[in-house]
Formats: sequence, C-alpha cells, structure tokens
Amino acid sequence: MGYREVYDAWKKDPEGFWLDQVDLIDWDKRPTRALDDSAAPLYGWFPDSVCNTCYNALDRHVEAGHGDRTAVIYDSPVTGVKDQFTYSQMLDRVSRLAGALAARGVTKGDRVVLYMPMIPEALVAMLACARIGAIHSVVFGGFAASELSVRIDDAKPKAIIAASCGIEPGRTVAYKPMLDEAIDLSEHKPEFTMIFQRPMLQADLIEGRDHSWREITAGAEPVGCTPMDGMDPLYVLYTSGTTGQPKGVVRANAGHMVALAWTMRNIYDIGAGDVMFTGSDVGWVVGHSYICYAPLIVGATTIVFEGKPVGTPDAGTFWRLIDDYKVKTLFTAPTAFRAIKRDDPHGEMLTKYDTSSLKHLFLAGERADPDTIQWASDKLGVPVIDHWWQTETGFAIAANPAGLELLPIKLGSPSVPMPGYEVHILGEDGHEVEPGELGAVAIKLPLPPGTLPTLWNAEDRFKKSYLNTFPGYYETGDAGVIDEDGYLFIMARTDDVINVAGHRLSTGAIEEVLAGHPDVAECAVIGAADPLKGQLPIGFLCLNKGCERDANELIAECVRLVRQKIGPVAAFKTAVLVDRLPKTRSGKILRGVMAKIADGQEYRMPATIDDPEILPEITVALEEIGYPTVA
Ligand code: COA
Ligand code: AMP
Repeated sequence: MGYREVYDAWKKDPEGFWLDQVDLIDWDKRPTRALDDSAAPLYGWFPDSVCNTCYNALDRHVEAGHGDRTAVIYDSPVTGVKDQFTYSQMLDRVSRLAGALAARGVTKGDRVVLYMPMIPEALVAMLACARIGAIHSVVFGGFAASELSVRIDDAKPKAIIAASCGIEPGRTVAYKPMLDEAIDLSEHKPEFTMIFQRPMLQADLIEGRDHSWREITAGAEPVGCTPMDGMDPLYVLYTSGTTGQPKGVVRANAGHMVALAWTMRNIYDIGAGDVMFTGSDVGWVVGHSYICYAPLIVGATTIVFEGKPVGTPDAGTFWRLIDDYKVKTLFTAPTAFRAIKRDDPHGEMLTKYDTSSLKHLFLAGERADPDTIQWASDKLGVPVIDHWWQTETGFAIAANPAGLELLPIKLGSPSVPMPGYEVHILGEDGHEVEPGELGAVAIKLPLPPGTLPTLWNAEDRFKKSYLNTFPGYYETGDAGVIDEDGYLFIMARTDDVINVAGHRLSTGAIEEVLAGHPDVAECAVIGAADPLKGQLPIGFLCLNKGCERDANELIAECVRLVRQKIGPVAAFKTAVLVDRLPKTRSGKILRGVMAKIADGQEYRMPATIDDPEILPEITVALEEIGYPTVA
C-alpha cells in the first residue's frame, strides 16, 4: 500500500487503524479498545491494555535470542571515548539501576528527574524508570539551576539522577553544583540523588542525600518490569510555552510505543538490526523518541553522540559516524547542516568517508530552508526529508513517509499529514481558509496515540493552551499553508515561542528574567532571523527613569543574568536600549512588527498602534547593532 491508501484507511476507521498496529508491541494484556473518549475533549489510547515500555525496548529482544545485537553505540569525540552495549548488556545495566531505585523506595507513579549529558547512562536511567513505572522527566543539560528548580517543583521527584558533568567544546560543565543550587532553590526536596561520576570531573557528594551511581548499582538486585496500564504516564517532558512556566508534556506508555513503532517502519524505514543516528540530545523530544525509545523498541541500534556537528573535531564528524557504524538513517536539525555547510561549503570532508550505507536524512525541529536541503541532498546523494512535529506530539505530524512510499519532495514543505493527524488551516474566525492561504495550523481532535493526553498537573492550562481557541481542534501554535496537492508549509509561530538552533525557547521566559534586572523598567524579546541558528533572541530594554548607567555594562549584566537564570541554551547575547516599546492602544507589545524590522521585512502598520513614531526609533536601534543582517 502507498501513502494515500494508508492515510485513507486511517481516515475511514481511525480506531481500527491503530488497533491493527498493536502487534508491533508485546503486551501483558493486549488492548481490545483503541480510543478512550470518556473524558473528551481529553483523550487517551488503549485504555484496557497492560504493558511495559522497557520490556519492549530491551527484554523482548533478549528473550527472542537477539541479546548479542548492538543496542547502543556511544561515540564521544569530546572525551575520546567510544563504547558499545548489546541488548543483554543494556538489560543488565537497566535492571540493576531499576533495582537500586526500587530498593530506595522509588515505585510506580513516582517521578524521577534526570539531568544528564549525552552518555549511555542517560538511556539507562530513562529505561530503568520505565521498568519500574517511575515517570522520568529529563532536563536538558544546557538549562541553568533555576530552570531545573522550576521543573523540580512542578514534577516533585522522589529522586534525581544526574551526572557529575557534561562536556561542551572547550569547557567542562559541572552539573552537580547546579543540581545543588537547584535543590536549594526548590520548595520540593527529593529524597535522594544518584550521581554518575565521570572521570573528567568528580562531584562532591552530600552525605545521606547523594549516592554514587556506581556504588549503588554494583550491589543492586536486578528487578523485572512493572506492568503498567497503557494510559499510565511514561514520562513528563517540559517544553517552552509563552510564559516562564514550562509546560509538562505527559506521554503515556501504550500509545507512545505503538505510534513510535509505526513511524520506524513507515517513516524512517528502520527495523531490527539497522543503525539509526539521531543527532540531538536526550533533553529534547527528538532524543526521547529517536535516540532512546523508538530504535530500541524495534530492535535497532541507536547512537549516543556526545559532540557537535562541527568542531568536534571538524565538519566531517557526522560522515565518520555514518562510515564507522554503517548508519542507515540520520536524523538531526537543519541548524546542524547549516553549521556543516558553513565550515565545509564544498563538502570536501565527505570525500574522506564512505557514506554509502546512508539511505535517508531526516530533518526536524525548525524550518528547513530550501538551500540547506538542496545542499545536503546534493552532497549526500540521498533523499532529504523535512518533517514537522512538536514535543507535544512525540512523533511527526507531517512527513514524507519514506518507509512506506517516498513522495515527491517539495522544498520548504514537510510534506503531508501522517495517519492520525487531520490537519486544517484555520482563519481567525475558526473557519478553514482556501488552499494556499496562510492560517493557524490546527489538528482535528482526537490526536493520535503517542501524543500528549494532558499537561502534568495542569489540565486547565492544557485546555487553555491547546483546545479552547478552536473548539474540536488542537492548536499547534504554528502558522502555515496547505497547497493544492495537500502539502503543508510551516511558516511561523503564532505565539511568542522562538526556535534557536532547533531549541524551543519562550521569549516570555527571557523577558521575565530581564524584567528582574533592577535597572530595567520594561522589556521585550524577539527572535530575529539568523543564518546559522535559524533565530536568535534580541532584547529591547527600557531603563528606569534617571538611570544613567553605561549601556554596554548594563547589557552585559542582562546577558549574564539570562545565562545564569535560563542557561547557555538561550543563546541570549544581544540587547539594545530603547526609550519606549511599540505597543497597541491596549498595551500589547508589537513583537511581530519588531521582528519584521529586525529581519528587514516589509510590515504593515498595525491599525491599533498607539504611537507609530516609535517604529523608526526601533529601526535605528536595530541598525546600530547590525540588523537587518539580511536584506
Ligand atoms: N550542556 C551545557 N551547555 C550546553 C549544552 C548542554 N547539553 N548544549 C548546549 N550548551 C551550550 C553551548 O555550549 C553554548 O554555550 P556558549 O554560549 O557558551 O557557546 C550554548 O549552550 C548554545 O548552544 P547551541 O545553541 O547548541 O549552540 P552551539 O554553538 O554550541 O552549537 C549547533 C550550534 C548548530 C552546532 C548545535 O546547536 C547543534 O548541533 N544543533 C543540532 C542538533 C540539535 O541539538 N537539535 C535540537 C533538537 S532536534
Ligand atoms: P519542539 O517542541 O521543541 O520540537 O518544537 C516544536 C516547534 O518547532 C514546532 O511547533 C515548530 O514551530 C518548529 N518545528 C519543528 N519541526 C519543524 C519543521 N520541520 N518545519 C518548521 N518548523 C518546525
């Protein structure tokens, strides 16, 4: 069957379609029902099933006689370490860590926060939680202590698992002092922590609270898998919304497994024994789905890469990985390819390696610009597939389903909706717009298995953020177009979320930090186009009356403050002082217009603007710092 037949089959009988996929998974109790709509507009999937995600990721492959197959390859150019773990070895490590957690009272439904760099132990910790039914919440290592503490207070973990350090090019990031600070800042205190000591930097442990991972697991009794109700949460992953308070996206066990297993076969063309390299981080959804869970669920090999696409040591790193491990599918963010293209525009590094094992390159996380896609496809000689999804959905909303049928590629489009997603482009009045017209991208409810059933402890916020604007639809927060052929084009966000190097950031969160500076009376943050990172945040600061401080010094303080409060991942390095901010008469800051000025785009003067004279002042302030960078 081709894409059209499969999509139509889903549309004709959505529940039957998903029930037909459940044999991709091993169950303690096979589901007899697909959709649970008893709490509509909140939905769940496979309500009468019982299963365990870790069992499906590890045990079942070992039991089927594939214990010697490589599950995880660790390649770390930043430390010079390479290692490999078979399915049996992973099972041993995971079941011991699970045993150690269980022995300390961690049980089904407890939360465990993970603060880990890209080392195999991150996957071991995720799977160990899944094994005993504890809900993990991974916090990206590039977030600072206060962001970690916000997540600790929301998730209320019984335990925190962290590594002693992460390695960024040129610096060692000491995780433990940040963890200590985060716990100090949090109201909620975990009962204990478990620290994986790395040789590059050993952490000081606090007697009674902190335990060494190695010591604890060495003597631990391995434990088996806890049977979980299919709708029980597997993890909570925080993502940026429009305010400083991150949203805890909940992922349920059964739907997640079924959906991921379907995508591996039909989108990524990856099955048992194949090698998938996902160049992302376990702190993001792409890392959850395609570094950890999906490759292991289907018995494939996954690569944990601790490095960058460039500079570790050079722009040929990805090609070396493909050659060394015979990678079949590479998945990363477009920004990684822009970085490679910038360092090695003619692709000379490629001549040093044999990349013939590669069949597809998948890109997601931000808009894939046609230049980058064209360059990658010319140089690699494989289809380059842009696909569009979100932390909330856990897998692609729109893609080109290469495993099923490679459809014609349209540059700038993530292609077509996947089964499970009925995508509509809606105008402000909630009505469908004409093909080719821009509008809000919305998905008809219910969302498919694997997508978020709600936000952690925040059902009202879930409804307000996603369901209320267009009743009967999930609001994606993206604006886009569907063309005559049914191809989707994602153009921009409709909210204040920006995308920096594939990382989703809230301008609202940065503004909250800047507003906390004692000399800042008011501020706004926008995302300006950047040739490498897609977007970069720019701050506009209005100072308190009478403040005569040196501008450079003050801006440097603000930059430091954001780094300290949100973390280096915010990549906040640029701010300007302005006398006033452009606003509507009702006081809403016109960030969209400011962003257009920064990008050198034409803009329409909003009819509701309070004082149009402010816009030339903004233009001058931006010109002084070199914007627009592109005409
Ligand atoms: N722990 C601590 N700090 C981290 C970190 C981590 N896990 N990850 C990033 N940082 C830091 C970086 O060191 C950098 O710090 P700096 O300001 O001192 O230089 C800052 O956060 C910004 O990081 P990033 O935006 O990633 O920029 P970069 O210059 O380090 O790398 C790319 C740019 C394009 C090479 C990199 O972003 C990349 O490989 N992206 C593609 C893959 C990806 O991550 N996708 C995400 C979702 S699919
Ligand atoms: P995240 O939740 O971090 O994965 O970010 C999701 C957001 O990133 C989406 O809502 C989009 O704004 C953007 N995004 C992800 N993939 C794409 C893509 N292929 N094309 C355009 N934007 C994308």
